[in-house]
Amino acid sequence: MIDTIRTLKKEKDAVILAHNYQLPEIQDVADFVGDSLELALRAASVTERMIVFCGVQFMAETAKILNPDKKVILPVQEAGCPLADQLTPEMLIRAKAEHPHAGVVVYVNSTAECKAVADIVCTSANAVEVVRSLDADEIIFGPDANLAAFVQRSVPEKTIIPVPPTGHCYVHTGFSLHDVAEARARGGRIICHPECPPAIQERADVIASTGGMVRIAAESGLWHVFTEKEMGYRLKTLHPDRTFLTREGAVCHDMKLTTLPILKAALETEEHEVTLPDRIMAEARTAIERMIALHR
Ligand code: 13P
Ligand code: SF4
Repeated sequence: MIDTIRTLKKEKDAVILAHNYQLPEIQDVADFVGDSLELALRAASVTERMIVFCGVQFMAETAKILNPDKKVILPVQEAGCPLADQLTPEMLIRAKAEHPHAGVVVYVNSTAECKAVADIVCTSANAVEVVRSLDADEIIFGPDANLAAFVQRSVPEKTIIPVPPTGHCYVHTGFSLHDVAEARARGGRIICHPECPPAIQERADVIASTGGMVRIAAESGLWHVFTEKEMGYRLKTLHPDRTFLTREGAVCHDMKLTTLPILKAALETEEHEVTLPDRIMAEARTAIERMIALHR
């Protein structure tokens, strides 16, 4: 299966991009594996004719927005992000009417329509930097309220307005103080994603995006990894001499929909192609490119 996928990829002039939460066999066959920011930056410099995105809708949409003339394929059309679905453009427009001087920062885990009304996009890797880059003292921030709380703690001089007030990811809010106590009893260090609730963030040793976790993992022998469980496979591949403990129940079901047979079929049929209205793409691109400019 893997050989067929590699042959098809060459024949079709395709690049396979995969998120850190994808199944191990998908990570193994991908050309590039990373966090949302790394994937967006990689997507911005693709030379191949076609991008096959092993991830969820908002990630493939971001790749399409950055490459309007390329074919971008999401192997499982319905692979979504329940967090992204919690924010609508109308919510942002209403918040803007209530806070006319506020900047609008939209997390990359959002629809293209929401990005189109944002001033700038951020990921969990650069949210603090993005918020600091704006002149505004008030920042409308959505949809993740836990990431918003993390930014508020890091940038106390600004007022962060979470929209919606309780936007969250079910995978990360599944971590509890019981998990912290268990980890403390075993020793080692806790690294958590900023989508975890503030009570977990406050007790963790390190808070990082999944890409940040890859970079920081070399610092310790034993890590309790408070994010989606496949991150453990990614970290072990890159740091085989370290130990990574994950929570079995921390599963993003949408990230598990892409399997090797489905990836093979996507390369063969070139389905499902990501398409978006031109106006939405143009407006969302401005907000995404503002973020990318901070990394040049
Ligand atoms: P990262 O950008 O840190 O990989 O996070 C993406 C995500 O969906 C977290 O749940
Ligand atoms: Fe969305 Fe949560 Fe899955 Fe990340 S882990 S893609 S935020 S549902």
